Amino acid sequence: MAISIGLNPSDLKKLVQSIREVLSDTVMLSVKIRGFHWNVVGKDFWELHELFELQYKALNDAADVLAERIRALGEKSPGSFIEFTRLSQIKEVDGLLSPNQMIEQLIKDHESTIQRIREHVKNLQETNDFESIDMLTGRLYEHGKFAWMVRSYLS
Ligand SMILES: [Fe+2]
Repeated sequence: MAISIGLNPSDLKKLVQSIREVLSDTVMLSVKIRGFHWNVVGKDFWELHELFELQYKALNDAADVLAERIRALGEKSPGSFIEFTRLSQIKEVDGLLSPNQMIEQLIKDHESTIQRIREHVKNLQETNDFESIDMLTGRLYEHGKFAWMVRSYLS
């Protein structure tokens, strides 16, 4: 049975595509940060290990909310790395990075994610899907906070 929540059916595809892309960036960034959590070394080991844990766990929780919004809109959520890598703009890293390289990567990743979400939020204004717009706006806040946290390690 088709969903009937006051949204234009022709907007649904646009909405779902946006959320799928944000979900995929969220999952890929979570995996990347978890790798940093495991592999970080150096004098700031403990702090960065903990900070990275806080971030990948928050992104995991956010991924769940995003995926379930897609389901509430009546569509299928991406659920495999084949799909996530196709839809994500997060660049994976190959090999071990220094703490500074990790921090620089994460600043860039949070910022590019923010830029992409901001475009989505702008393009979805006319859909009246306030729930999805609010959810995506919340992602802007969190990535902004996380970018600030990692940036604070640069002197
Ligand atoms: Fe751990």
